[in-house]
Amino acid sequence: MNFLEIAKNRFSCRSYSDKPVENEKIIQIMEAARIAPSAHNFQPWYFVVVSQNKELLKKTHETYHRDWFNDAPVVIIAYANKEKAWTRKTDQKNHSDIDISIAIDHITLAATNLGLATCWICNFYVDKVQELFNLPKNLEPIALIPVGYCNNKPDLDRFEQKRKPLDEIAKFL
Ligand SMILES: Cc1cc2nc3c(=O)[nH]c(=O)nc-3n(C[C@H](O)[C@H](O)[C@H](O)COP(=O)(O)O)c2cc1C
Repeated sequence: MNFLEIAKNRFSCRSYSDKPVENEKIIQIMEAARIAPSAHNFQPWYFVVVSQNKELLKKTHETYHRDWFNDAPVVIIAYANKEKAWTRKTDQKNHSDIDISIAIDHITLAATNLGLATCWICNFYVDKVQELFNLPKNLEPIALIPVGYCNNKPDLDRFEQKRKPLDEIAKFL
């Protein structure tokens, strides 16, 4: 797939098959996160990948209450470290959310390229995730990313109906 094909084939999968995800693919996906750019190259992120420990995976599923999430064979928890992120001097803007989002996008696109599917989840119980993994308080859980083989195919027509047209979102001067 060329880049646009990968981008169009990434979609929010909300139905995961029970086919296990190959470990090499998980490592490749995490390599894509590792090489992501970040402001000042501070790399203010940390990831927990849950798949092997089935008891822990079950508890991870309980941090977001959707039936389909219970079938996700792999869940990546993406954390941002606000204390380690670059802050712009002129207005004190902390860039951790931007940096982690880029890394997560690398994850979702790399997964797509490997025939896997993902979904961004931000509407999870933050306190439950913090309690479960007990990471230092400076690490803020930003998103859960289920990874697996999807029971559905992406709807490639959705960009026509479900995305704003280019002339509405960009000006070419
Ligand atoms: C920052 C962010 C947070 C999201 N949180 C959730 C979520 O909690 N649950 C969910 O089912 N989808 C979530 N989504 C998925 C969006 O609903 C989805 O990306 C959007 O509707 C476009 O559909 P597509 O990803 O299939 O192209 C989130 C997406 C983003 C980018």
